[in-house]
Amino acid sequence: MNYKDFGLVNTKKMFINAMRHGYAVPAFNFYNLETLKSILVAAKNTKSPVILAVSESALKYMGDDFLMGMIIGAKIKSKNIALHLDHGHSFESCKHAIDLGFSSVMFDGSELPFAENVKQTKRVVAYAKKFDVSVEAELGTLSGIEDEDTKSEKHIYTDPLDVIEFVSKTSCDSLAIAIGTSHGAYKRKNENEKLRFDILKQIADKLPNFPLVLHGASEIPQNLLKTINKNGGKIVGALGIPASQIKKAVSMNICKVNVDSDARLAFTSAVRENLNKNPENFDPRKFLTAAMNEITKTYIYEITKVMNSAHK
Ligand code: G3H
Ligand code: 13P
Ligand code: ZN
Repeated sequence: MNYKDFGLVNTKKMFINAMRHGYAVPAFNFYNLETLKSILVAAKNTKSPVILAVSESALKYMGDDFLMGMIIGAKIKSKNIALHLDHGHSFESCKHAIDLGFSSVMFDGSELPFAENVKQTKRVVAYAKKFDVSVEAELGTLSGIEDEDTKSEKHIYTDPLDVIEFVSKTSCDSLAIAIGTSHGAYKRKNENEKLRFDILKQIADKLPNFPLVLHGASEIPQNLLKTINKNGGKIVGALGIPASQIKKAVSMNICKVNVDSDARLAFTSAVRENLNKNPENFDPRKFLTAAMNEITKTYIYEITKVMNSAHK
C-alpha cells in the first residue's frame, strides 16, 4: 500500500511551510492506541501539523498489522500528518516501513563512517524516491553532554564542514544534527549547560533553506517527575532541554523537533497518580484515560508554546 491511500502526506511541504513561517513540525513517538490517540487529539485541537513517529522497537512492539490497522482506524485525511520511521538502522528496515505505507523514513547512519553513511543513505533515498517518500538522514552522533569527557567534540557534534557534501551526495530531504541534545530523560548535568548554537548557526549558514532536525528535544517537565516520585516512582536528577533553547533552535532552521520522553513521563505520572488515588479501581480504561489526557495536555503546551506550530 502507498501512504496516500491512508490519507497521509510526506514531510516535504510541511517543512517548506515550517521554514517559511518560522515554526517546527513536532514529531511525537507512539507505540500503542493511547499514545497515538493522544497525539492526534493534541494536533487536532491545536490545528497543528504533526509527524507520527514509530521507532523500530515500537514497530516490533505493535506489529505491522495492528499498527497499520490503527492508522486506517484513525481515518486520517489531512494535508498535515505524516507517518515516519524513527531511527531506521538499515536499508531493509526503511524499505519495510515504506512498503507498509509510511510516508517518511529516517535512515540513521550516524554511527557509520562518513562514506558508509553517504552510501547507505543514498540507497534508501533511491528506493524512497520511487514512492515519493521523504528521507531524513543523520550526521554527527547524538549523545549526551555527559559524554563530553570521553568522546572528542567531533564525535559528538555534527561537523559543519561535512554537511554540504553529505546533503548533496545523498539528496536526503532533511538532516538530523547533533548540537548537544540526547535521547532519554538525563540530558544535562546542570542548568548551565546549553546547546551549541554556534554549531547550529554554522550549519544553517551552509544549508540555508534546508530542513534541519533536532532529536532528543524533550523538556523533561519537573512537575511530572515530582508526581511520579510522589507516587512510588524513582526518577532522580533528570534534566531536559529548556523551552527557551528549543525555541531558539527553531528560529535557526530547525523545522522538526522530536519528542518522546515527555509523553512517557506524562503517561507514567498519570497512571501512578490515578492508581494511588483510586486504590479500589481495576478498570484500566480509567487510568489509561488519565494518561491520554496528560499526554495531550503536555503536547498541546509544546505545540503552542515551544514549536509554535498551532494553526499552521
Ligand atoms: O529516539 C528514540 C525514541 O525515543 C524511541 O525509543 O526505541 O525505545 O521506542 P524506543
Ligand atoms: P527525547 O528522548 O528527548 O524525547 O527524544 C526523542 C527522539 O529524539 C525520538 O527520535
Ligand atoms: Zn531520536
